[in-house]
Amino acid sequence: MITRNDTKGEAIGIAMLLMMGLGILLVGGMMMWMMGSGMMGKMMQDGMMDQNHMKEMMQEMMSGRLPPGIRPEDLPEPDSTGAQLLVRYCTQCHNLPSPAMHTAEDWPRVEARMLARERMMAGMHGMMQMMDIQAPSKEEERTILAYLQQHALRPASPETLGSPDAPGSALFRRTCSQCHALPDPRLHTADEWPGVVDRMRKNMETMGKPVFTNQERDEILSYLKQQAR
Ligand code: HEC
Ligand code: HEC
Repeated sequence: MITRNDTKGEAIGIAMLLMMGLGILLVGGMMMWMMGSGMMGKMMQDGMMDQNHMKEMMQEMMSGRLPPGIRPEDLPEPDSTGAQLLVRYCTQCHNLPSPAMHTAEDWPRVEARMLARERMMAGMHGMMQMMDIQAPSKEEERTILAYLQQHALRPASPETLGSPDAPGSALFRRTCSQCHALPDPRLHTADEWPGVVDRMRKNMETMGKPVFTNQERDEILSYLKQQAR
């Protein structure tokens, strides 16, 4: 498929593809990263970049925007078709995203953004064959979306939020709406919330968001416990 002499053109092709798919800024960073890591040289040498290479590179470069991964066995109804399709199609570029990361209302928008990318890359046979991105069929798309929505995050509502003047309320609204819609305080009991908030702190570290202090943690938790189910 590719001869040694073609590899430079190949690398440029990859850069162009990524530019279309991910945006120009990112490509600048990606090229610099590839050069810095010697990946560019390696790519030129072997004339190939497989999916694992690409996934590794994406995760390293873009961790700030990629979902922190969960394990397939931690998915709700892991044996369902929806869960299996999610694992198959949504781990091609990054770690496995949790359906609980977005609300049923937000998932169609996020899924559509991902599918556009996937289709674009899957359509690039020939030049990009070595990345081998598979796009789901229309039927599979609907199954994935239905699965995501069924196990989605439940958003807060005016009734469950309580008074906006309650201590910790403003901090909760500000801190906990950065990556997903503001979650419903009644999703968890007072006993459960500390564990969830600590997991969110890890998500924030993984995604490079500024992390709350211990005092802020206590403030958010006192609010959540007040409003908990
Ligand atoms: C072709 C590569 C690719 C595939 C396949 C892919 N993603 Fe992504 N995903 C990305 C990139 C790049 C980003 C970071 C930029 C962004 O958010 O658009 C991202 C970010 C995300 C995020 C975090 C950002 C946010 O809006 O919350 C979620 C969640 C996500 N993807 C879910 C999915 C799901 C669900 C699927 C399967 C339907 C999927 N991805 C398949 C490339 C991909
Ligand atoms: C850095 C991004 C980010 C921020 C900021 C964030 N979350 Fe999350 N949240 C996630 C991701 C990713 C998931 C899905 C994976 C998981 O559950 O860890 C999630 C899922 C959830 C869920 C559904 C899962 C469950 O256990 O019920 C709740 C509730 C939640 N977040 C609450 C919060 C609260 C409260 C805050 C503020 C303290 C917060 N989140 C801030 C990324 C974030």
